[in-house]
Amino acid sequence: MFHSGAMRHPTPATIDIFDPDIYVKGVPHDAFRVLRAEHPVSFHAEPPDGKGFWAVTKYQDVVTVSKDPGTFSSYRGGTNIPDYPPDSLDVIRMLMVNMDPPQHTKFRRLTSTGFTPKMIARMEEYIRRAAREIIDEVIESGSCDFVTKIAAELPLVVIADIMGVPKEDRHLVFDWSNRLIGFDDPEFQTSLEDAQQAAAEMWAYANDLAEKRKGQDGKDLVTVLINAEIDGEQLTEMEFDGFFLLLTVAGNETTRNLISGGMLALMEHPAERARLAADPGLLTSAVEEMLRWVTPVIHFRRTATRDVELRGQTIQEGDKVVLYYSSANRDEDVFPNPNAFDVGRTPNDHLAFGIGQHSCLGINLARLEIRVMFEEILRRMPDVALAGEVRRLRSNFINGVKAMPVTFTPGRRSEP
Ligand code: HEM
Repeated sequence: MFHSGAMRHPTPATIDIFDPDIYVKGVPHDAFRVLRAEHPVSFHAEPPDGKGFWAVTKYQDVVTVSKDPGTFSSYRGGTNIPDYPPDSLDVIRMLMVNMDPPQHTKFRRLTSTGFTPKMIARMEEYIRRAAREIIDEVIESGSCDFVTKIAAELPLVVIADIMGVPKEDRHLVFDWSNRLIGFDDPEFQTSLEDAQQAAAEMWAYANDLAEKRKGQDGKDLVTVLINAEIDGEQLTEMEFDGFFLLLTVAGNETTRNLISGGMLALMEHPAERARLAADPGLLTSAVEEMLRWVTPVIHFRRTATRDVELRGQTIQEGDKVVLYYSSANRDEDVFPNPNAFDVGRTPNDHLAFGIGQHSCLGINLARLEIRVMFEEILRRMPDVALAGEVRRLRSNFINGVKAMPVTFTPGRRSEP
């Protein structure tokens, strides 16, 4: 993670937190620790031809920037580090994650009714049945790839249900979201064209689904969105497509990687795992600790709309400002002993879901899915053990696990 010349004291110029290759071995927490202590807001290069970016690594600064969308815009340059060509920028601005208030507020209001704690609580039974079925599929064999067979399945089934995507089509969604988000990993995508192709396929599918739902009064989100209005106008096709893409992609990779990374953390910390097994009442705090520990989304970006000072650094209008949730969640000023995985940690006000206007829409849903999945795993597969190499996603954006072979004592399928 530190460039050659490692004998000298590291500086922002020699600390690399951008190269996706680094993240194949794991999030560079040592580098972030040095940055927090010595260069909490520091400028980093963005090879091969990006203009560079400010890395915000302290908890309090991530909060300050997130809560000031007037100064730190999601709309101006989008929320990923690389700049988009102007025509692509217009497209990604159809996703509410890349909007600023007041436009963002209107779009967010449309979906929020589907994601209230009450609506989500109603889904618990469905989620539990889905989790049981997922485990039924592997339980007799005593081994599987944890990522594809367990962690990836639940978010897919659940978001497909919320959107009204037929169950048999959910693997299309899996493939599209991999190709859209795994842009730095050659296994999933070789080019920007492939991502555009995946988006085009997804939108053709979404439009087809919308056509079938027109005039119906179903409760699924596709039906709600095609009948929704903003300022008395129906959503345009592009706005609808934007919602479909964001909702399907945002909830998939993130929840999947939390379940895989959380399981890995338990396996790597046997004493904490035993503590949880002995006291299932710890699961709620254990889930929060998994979220802090894994932090599935490493960063999101903003763009400064004016010259502004942050921790003594002058950020100029137009500069990229990157919020490192992974670093904020290990900030020594907020979390005592931040590099310890502690299933009973309280308080635990981590930023894995972001904060402010854009804080995660799926927060209640994700928490419920994770809790139910681990309840079922801890009960039915208590001795899950690593059985091969863990392969990580090559990405500086998503803290992801691609493959995690495991074994466990075979069990019986649940009663129907
Ligand atoms: C462990 C799981 C998850 C994590 C770690 C996570 C993380 C995040 C983060 C950090 C943001 C902030 C974006 C920003 O500030 O620019 C966000 C926004 C968002 N998330 Fe999640 N997310 C998760 C699950 C989900 C789920 C299940 C859904 C649901 C469908 C979802 C939908 C969204 C949407 C739509 C936004 C944009 C909100 C807005 O712009 O107002 N997420 N998420």
